[in-house]
Amino acid sequence: MATMESLIGLVNRIQRACTVLGDHGGEGMSLWEALPSVAVVGGQSSGKSSVLESVVGRDFLPRGSGIVTRRPLVLQLHKTDGGTEYAEFLHAPKKRLTDFAAVRQEIADETDRITGKTKQISNVPIHLSIYSPNVVNLTVIDLPGLTKVAVEGQPDSIVEDIEMMVRSYVEKPNCIILAISPANQDIATSDAIKLAREVDPTGERTFGVLTKLDLMDKGTNALDVLEGRAYRLQHPWVGIVNRSQADINKNVNMISARQKEREYFETSPEYGHLAHKMGSEYLAKLLSQHLEKVIRQRIPSIIALINKNIDELNAELDRIGRPIAVDGGAQLYTILEMCRAFDRVFKEHLD
Ligand code: GDP
Ligand code: NA
Ligand code: MG
Repeated sequence: MATMESLIGLVNRIQRACTVLGDHGGEGMSLWEALPSVAVVGGQSSGKSSVLESVVGRDFLPRGSGIVTRRPLVLQLHKTDGGTEYAEFLHAPKKRLTDFAAVRQEIADETDRITGKTKQISNVPIHLSIYSPNVVNLTVIDLPGLTKVAVEGQPDSIVEDIEMMVRSYVEKPNCIILAISPANQDIATSDAIKLAREVDPTGERTFGVLTKLDLMDKGTNALDVLEGRAYRLQHPWVGIVNRSQADINKNVNMISARQKEREYFETSPEYGHLAHKMGSEYLAKLLSQHLEKVIRQRIPSIIALINKNIDELNAELDRIGRPIAVDGGAQLYTILEMCRAFDRVFKEHLD
């Protein structure tokens, strides 16, 4: 019996293969689009990048006040059996980075390479893979925050540009939405919930995440939201306490941050009774379980797509003639072999 993690890991590998080799899905839905991923959505500085870092359990994303995330970051987490943890960018293949501060710097540099050191944004995604024994298998996408006005150095169209970019990810029916709202703002004003409700009216693929619980005004609490009374979603709300800017400046590490977050909930007079369903680790677990369920439902259609790919690739190979001499043909042959292998493994998951 194949495990859930191997199932999600398999999907990760297919997504990566499709990205590397170019999508051979032809017309209609591509293989990439058939597979689930998780995207963060929310207002600027609501804590999106911080939440992603916590889910991953590693410090590697640029964070801070103002517009920091300016290109989509497609991040694939691969759980390994052991060994050293490392990261690899698609734009710098075979360069294994083990220093996560260097990963953060490369994201910032690669962002600037396209946009310049401005406050401009770009639709061109950065692809990053992390291989580690300490992650769950997930594909997550960090996105620029939704804004209300253009600031100095930004074109007036930026508000709509960002919304269109974010929308292009979250409107896909197989995108799981991590809708991030800060607890120190009224939930009725949440950009994340507004957009999530538009693209996912039934809420079946939306996870509500409430950040900055530690920053709420004294005498107020978020129980109405966390217990689903203020805004009901199909999935339970998860409350989060990320590192503050002061923590970031002091280089508070992930382990201490998680410890602090756990203590926050366990000792909280308001949220103590919910402590086992709060925090970054719980959110990571919830997401992984949900992904497994979604993937299982999709296996038959994924097999159909893979078979379509196999047919198309066979036709293509017949056209250029075997045996393969040119590089392009060799690459097609590689992806064909990979599709066949995936097809076998997926079929094993069916029973
Ligand atoms: P993004 O713009 O949505 O990606 O948000 P970031 O993750 O970059 O965070 C923006 C700022 O808010 C940073 O200074 C974070 O330290 C801070 N921040 C995010 N979440 C929390 C939280 O739960 N508590 C506190 N105190 N600060 C937070
Ligand atoms: Na920010
Ligand atoms: Mg960000």
